[in-house]
Amino acid sequence: MGKLDGKVALITGAGSGMGRSMAVLFAHEGAKVVAGEWNAESLAAVVDEIKAAGGEVTGVQGNVAVQAEAEGLVDRAMAAYGRLDILVNNAGVMDLNQGIGELSDAIWERVLGINLNGPMYITRRAVPHMVAQGGGAIVNIASVAGLSGATAGVAYTTSKHGLIGLTRSTAWIYAQKGIRCNAICPGGVETNIMASIDPTKMDPAGSARLQVFYNTMPGALKPIDIANLALYLVTDEARYINGQAIAADAGWMAT
Ligand SMILES: NC(=O)c1ccc[n+]([C@@H]2O[C@H](COP(=O)([O-])OP(=O)(O)OC[C@H]3O[C@@H](n4cnc5c(N)ncnc54)[C@H](O)[C@@H]3O)[C@@H](O)[C@H]2O)c1
Repeated sequence: MGKLDGKVALITGAGSGMGRSMAVLFAHEGAKVVAGEWNAESLAAVVDEIKAAGGEVTGVQGNVAVQAEAEGLVDRAMAAYGRLDILVNNAGVMDLNQGIGELSDAIWERVLGINLNGPMYITRRAVPHMVAQGGGAIVNIASVAGLSGATAGVAYTTSKHGLIGLTRSTAWIYAQKGIRCNAICPGGVETNIMASIDPTKMDPAGSARLQVFYNTMPGALKPIDIANLALYLVTDEARYINGQAIAADAGWMAT
C-alpha cells in the first residue's frame, strides 16, 4: 500500500530535477499525478517513466507564468480525476545575479512571472476545490533565497521571499478548512536549473559578491532528498506542520 493511495497530485516543472523526482516518487506511492511542464520533450519522458513503472499520470504542457495555462493545470486535474489533494508549486527559473542597481525589467518580469505569479494563479484556482473537498496539502518549492539575501540576485530573492509569503498567508487563512501549505527552501541541489539562464549574461559584480556566501555551502543535495521531504509534508504524518518554510540545505542556513 502506498502512502498516497487515492490522492491526486499536481506537480509543476515535473520534467526535470526535483519536480521529476517528486512526480516519480508520488506516483510510486500511489498518487494519480498531473505533471505540468512547459518543455514537451522532458514532459513526455517523465510521463513515460511513470507509466513504465505502472503509475497513473496525466501530462499537461503549459507555462505557469501564463494565467490561462496555469489555471488550466488545475482544470485538467479536476477533469481527469475529479479532485485535487496535493499541489506542488515547483517550476522555477534562476536570475542573473543582478543587484537592484543592475536589474533589467525583462529579468524581473520573467523571474517574478514564473516563480511567483505562477504559484499564485495555480493556488488560487486549486484552493476552492480543496475547500470543497474538506482539505488538501500544498508544498511550495522556495529556496534558501527565500530566507537570505546572500544566495541569488534581487529578482530571484524577491520571488522566493514572496513565495514564502504566499505560503504563510494560505496556511493561516485556510487552516480551519483542512488545507496545509508549507514551503521547502532547498540549498544547492544537483538539477538542470542553470539551463534556465544564459551563463554568459551573469552579472559579474553580483556573482562575485554572492560567491562569498556560496563558498560556505556545506554540500549539495540530490533531487530525491527534496522529494522525500515533500512526500512527508503531504502525508497525514505531517498533519500539524503548517505555514512553515523548511530549509533543506545540509545546514547552510545555520551560518
Ligand atoms: N537546484 C537548486 O539548487 C535549487 C535551489 C533552491 C531552489 N530551487 C528551486 O527548485 C525548483 C525546481 O528547480 P530544479 O532545481 O529542479 O530545476 P530544473 O531546471 O531541473 O527543473 C525545473 C523544471 O521546471 C520547468 N519550468 C521552468 N519554468 C517553467 C514554466 N514557466 N512553466 C512550466 N515549467 C517550467 C523546467 O522546464 C524544468 O523542467 C525551482 O523553483 C527552483 O527555483 C532550486
